[in-house]
Amino acid sequence: MDARLSAIVSKLVYQVQETIDEFNITEEEWMEAIHFMTNVGKNDEYHLLSDVLGFSVKVNEKTHANSKNNVATDHSVEGPLYRDNAPVHHCEASMFEGEEEPGDVLFLSGQVTYSDGTPVPKAIVDVWQSNAEGDYENEDPKQADYNYRRKIETDNNGHYKLKTMVPGPYRISKSGYVGQLLQKMGRHDWRPAHIHFKISDDFQEPLTTMLFIENDPWIDSDAIGAVKDSLILRTKKIDDPNEMNQYEMDKPFYVAEYNFVIEKAEERTNQIN
Ligand code: BEZ
Ligand code: FE
Repeated sequence: MDARLSAIVSKLVYQVQETIDEFNITEEEWMEAIHFMTNVGKNDEYHLLSDVLGFSVKVNEKTHANSKNNVATDHSVEGPLYRDNAPVHHCEASMFEGEEEPGDVLFLSGQVTYSDGTPVPKAIVDVWQSNAEGDYENEDPKQADYNYRRKIETDNNGHYKLKTMVPGPYRISKSGYVGQLLQKMGRHDWRPAHIHFKISDDFQEPLTTMLFIENDPWIDSDAIGAVKDSLILRTKKIDDPNEMNQYEMDKPFYVAEYNFVIEKAEERTNQIN
């Protein structure tokens, strides 16, 4: 027998029974709920349902709460849009091919260190994001394969640099049953603009997280509730012609810095035990 499973299911059952009592749920309503769950399964939307109900973020927080010290960068959920095997670059990369993409250019740089401050040379900074219109490459036939997906290997001092475009906010359920539920609940289905990262050295599971572009219109109401203060990327607009020249830019753009702190493998093991 699995005592933990039994306790969890019993608690869930108790809470559903209580809800049925509190709202005097009818057979008709209950059948509608069963029908909804059946369709969510058929349409492969269970993960999305978990996301919009806030369960994915909550479970991610619980998973990392005991195995993370206060210094390390906060984890976040991976989301459904990661693809492995992005092109690898050393120290710096442009997130797109060629010179031009719609939107505002963003130069992002920073350092990867361990919690004791030691730089992590040759850390892999695996980055993925939408374009300025909020479209991910694998959902948008107009974009090249692996557009806005790169792996950047840090230099000997743990530094990385990338040139990208400021991503746009992303709509998570343009169609589908989860989207219908959100509509009925009077909720929107937008995620504030964000950039995803997996940071790893050779020895450990990556730190998976995401950074949110400050001042995004949806930053206080992310459809999956993942925004944290520590993960907000503060950007600075550069529109002074002299400064623009230094970057060889002929129109205004943004710069930002973010340092990632990961834990050494042995540190993680000590905390778990
Ligand atoms: C995203 O990170 O883009 C995402 C996360 C959860 C659901 C859908 C999209
Ligand atoms: Fe995303």
